[in-house]
Amino acid sequence: MAHHGPHVLDVLDSAAVPGQKHVNHFNRKNGELFAEDVSLAQLATAVGTPTYVYSQATITRHFHAVDQALAGVPHTICYAVKACSNLAVLSLLGRLGSGFDIVSLGELRRVQAAGGDATKAVFSGVGKRDDEIAAALAAGVHCLNVESAGELARIERVARNLGVRAPISLRVNPDVDPKTHKYIATGLRESKFGIAMPDARALYFQAAASDHMRVVGVDCHIGSQILEVAPFAEAIAKVLELVADLRTDGISLEHIDVGGGLGIPYDDEKPASPELWGQTVKSLVAGTGLHVIVEPGRVIVGNAGLLLTRVIGKKQHDDKEFVIVDAAMNDLIRPALYDAYHAIEPVATHANRPLRTVDVVGPVCESGDFLAVDRPLPEVQEDELLGVFGAGAYGMAMASNYNSRPRPAEVLVSGAQWAVVRPRETLEALWQGEVIADLGD
Ligand code: LLP
Repeated sequence: MAHHGPHVLDVLDSAAVPGQKHVNHFNRKNGELFAEDVSLAQLATAVGTPTYVYSQATITRHFHAVDQALAGVPHTICYAVKACSNLAVLSLLGRLGSGFDIVSLGELRRVQAAGGDATKAVFSGVGKRDDEIAAALAAGVHCLNVESAGELARIERVARNLGVRAPISLRVNPDVDPKTHKYIATGLRESKFGIAMPDARALYFQAAASDHMRVVGVDCHIGSQILEVAPFAEAIAKVLELVADLRTDGISLEHIDVGGGLGIPYDDEKPASPELWGQTVKSLVAGTGLHVIVEPGRVIVGNAGLLLTRVIGKKQHDDKEFVIVDAAMNDLIRPALYDAYHAIEPVATHANRPLRTVDVVGPVCESGDFLAVDRPLPEVQEDELLGVFGAGAYGMAMASNYNSRPRPAEVLVSGAQWAVVRPRETLEALWQGEVIADLGD
């Protein structure tokens, strides 16, 4: 699909502020691409490339869109830290009132380092270690989302040793098909995630009977980049049946955590709006008295981030044309890993350029190192800048040092102001801590 002119990637704009003019925070001024009021060309000169650029206004708006979608029902937004875990982003969301969905000790420490409220954190993940459980209990997290019978026993043991009561919520697997990429579908029976519905009741009784656990809620998360509300509705309905059964049996839960997973437009997808998703959640939960927790990641930061990269060169093999850029699969792995589509546009004006069908590739030594395949792109020149859209979620968070490439810088923009919120990794940092052990020859 070719994209021309200003991008209208961000349906949340119209959804968030009904009736108001659509404002895209990555827009063109005199043909040139800006992040809010910051020229990306000037930013690249100052900071270099590749660089992740985040729009504070977009993150803020998306947070409010989710918040407003749940208005009328008591709720907590626990932003999924894994989507984009830069301290500046966590701090911004914390100041907006967000809680956090964390999945590791590292994410807990990030939230704390950013000044986030750990008591508004939920600890998810299929394999929590003793030290992680202990740290989460010490930090006073809202609850641990328990994924198996073994984990429940482990949490009880850690809590007993510490002489505390662990707040727990069982993550159940409602066995629904979220109709998304198989790597990011998590709510099917065959996935490693969650507790099978038929097993949940017995585990709730076990937890309720323990002096070292406190049953607070129930949790499900069925996958990511989900475009329709039906799978959410199906999952929530199943979970609510369990809640009702438990209540009959004398176990009353305080909250239902419906997970994250709402999709965003990367190309021409038409995901359900946060409003529709919120209405679905609210209509199902209405009258239960349950507090609602949600764990959105992508919908908040996905289209709030752009990866700025520079063209290193071009080459041609028969009828195949390549644009080689300085960002690679180590910087943004989504195309290689999920065949994901990310819109790409020149930063400079491109109104009258002919379209070429190209592969946009990085310098990494793998055929899977591409950002786009067979993509119509305005003819680009060596050394010019490109913007890779929709890179805010699972971009920098999944970056690696493969091929000994320092990870990109990260910049947060607000209006005409910007700040480097993580400097480009230095070369020395690549081997920091490594030792040339002398064990003899
Ligand atoms: N809660 C739990 C328990 C999760 O596992 C996830 C994401 C989320 C919330 C947030 O989901 P979101 O709202 O962002 O869809 N790397 C993949 C996505 C992996 C999602 C993993 N879990 C990608 O780049 O598409």
